[in-house]
Amino acid sequence: MRAIPIRPDIYWVGAIDWGIRDFHGYEIPRGTTYNNYLIVDDETTLLDTVKYIFAETTIRNIKTIADPSTIRHVVINHIENDHATSLDRIMELAPKATIHITERGKKGLERFFDLSQWDLRVVKTGDTLTTGKHTLLFIETPMLHWPDSMMTYIKEEKILISQDGFGQHMASAARFDDEFIQSESVSALEDAVVDYYANILMPFGQIIKTKVAEIQKLGLEIDMIAPDHGIIWREDPQKVIKMYLDMAEGKADLCVSIIYDTMWHGTEIMINPIMEGIKDEGVECKVIKLRATPISVAIKEFWKSRGSLIGTSTLNNLMLPSVARFLYQLRGLRPKNRIVGAFGAYGWGGGGVKEAYEEFKKMGIEIVEPGLQTLYRPSSEDESKCYDFGKMFAGKVKEYHSIFR
Ligand code: FEO
Repeated sequence: MRAIPIRPDIYWVGAIDWGIRDFHGYEIPRGTTYNNYLIVDDETTLLDTVKYIFAETTIRNIKTIADPSTIRHVVINHIENDHATSLDRIMELAPKATIHITERGKKGLERFFDLSQWDLRVVKTGDTLTTGKHTLLFIETPMLHWPDSMMTYIKEEKILISQDGFGQHMASAARFDDEFIQSESVSALEDAVVDYYANILMPFGQIIKTKVAEIQKLGLEIDMIAPDHGIIWREDPQKVIKMYLDMAEGKADLCVSIIYDTMWHGTEIMINPIMEGIKDEGVECKVIKLRATPISVAIKEFWKSRGSLIGTSTLNNLMLPSVARFLYQLRGLRPKNRIVGAFGAYGWGGGGVKEAYEEFKKMGIEIVEPGLQTLYRPSSEDESKCYDFGKMFAGKVKEYHSIFR
């Protein structure tokens, strides 16, 4: 690769991870990128590093523009391993550089590196760094999505280096939103934004609203958003800000996602009549089979839909492990503004559907009770009940959805 200019004297020098599919347990079917940026100025400055296995890639990219030993400042916006773990290699080449980092970033980083060997400057919101022609303004964004997180605003170019915020896990030949839309589509880009938000940022909606308001209050004009993953928003940065604010406000489609797994197809047989009931109520419906779909995709579809029905067979009086894993992962993401119910087939004493409701209650989301259970293989009478259940649930979803208009 080579460095790619995003503005005169500012370059993307990151790495594309085409082959990764497992990102600390989060499936990323499109791969990802680790973006970092180099400002060539009187005092050359590197904004973020990359995952350690790509250290030599970013160094090679930097070398196409500047001698790494001339780097005078390194900004660490976020210490998570995918961004900070090649810091030691960078500092080997630029040992006199000053590292700019938040207080909490410093506390975390010292668990990975011996910081006594480097010059560190702890920064907070409002602090700046002048590199020559460029002025960098630091904005702390704690819990977006780690305690240490911050963003860096390049005043003269009106660029927000947004670290994980506004990013997408997506490996692509395109570096910019307009390029990506031309080569693929707007909907693929939007889908990648929602996927990232749902799987990483869902718990932090309130913080997102507060931080965006804070940035707006600072009166910062934003011409470009350059995140640490995926494409750079140079054509329409306001689009992704609006998407974030909408999601933080609880925006969802009037749709029911049926997310299920099945042992001997009893639960699966229930799906078609449930789906017909939902559609006859005028609500869209999607069906996602766990074990055939990455959990991250199921989480994204859950998040896109106002309502979800979770289907599970009963195994040893419990949910199927795939369903339990999905709900466990979902609970950690603290979903809000969504409504759920459950259904499933059982053979002996039942228990799967009951367990699903137990999980829902821990999440504190809207619940439609009771769920629907059928014994072994659903009869035609059971299928009628499924249809009615789907219709009833879709009616509740419509009612709940109207609150958000
Ligand atoms: Fe891309 Fe929170 O690291």
